[in-house]
Amino acid sequence: MFTSLRLPLAALLSFALVQAVSAAECSSVTAHGAEVFATECSVCHAVTKGTTGMMGPNLNGVVGRKSGSLAGFSYSQAMRDKDISWQAENITQFITQPQAYVPGTYMPYMGLASADDREAVACFLKEQH
Ligand code: HEC
Repeated sequence: MFTSLRLPLAALLSFALVQAVSAAECSSVTAHGAEVFATECSVCHAVTKGTTGMMGPNLNGVVGRKSGSLAGFSYSQAMRDKDISWQAENITQFITQPQAYVPGTYMPYMGLASADDREAVACFLKEQH
């Protein structure tokens, strides 16, 4: 299913950097992840380096970044206190139910129901740096 979507999506999404991926388990879901990001996350988050002024922190380079640490963004105390390094795995957990994973977070998002979509968008974020 993902394979059949790859080409049209790559053509449609201007920001979809369809790059060679490092993690084998992510390679088949990156294009789908770009679509999930566009529909679920891009209203609040940018992935283009340097973009500011959105409701949520810029997610360029978020994988490997400490939670609540992007300079210049006003995070909740809960996010600053979380003290984790974001990885594809814990981003997947966070977006399942943000208020459960980081109680008190400012992220006003109910969660993403589909496990495939969660994994795809986490893999997409891994490639944004
Ligand atoms: C309605 C706006 C909104 C939507 C939609 C949204 N977010 Fe967020 N997000 C935020 C805000 C605001 C924060 C800061 C939370 C805090 O400070 O507690 C945040 C924080 C985050 C963080 C932590 C970043 C850091 O620097 O520590 C991640 C990761 C994240 N969001 C991923 C996502 C993903 C992936 C999606 C889509 C599935 C998404 N968000 C959808 C508003 C949103």
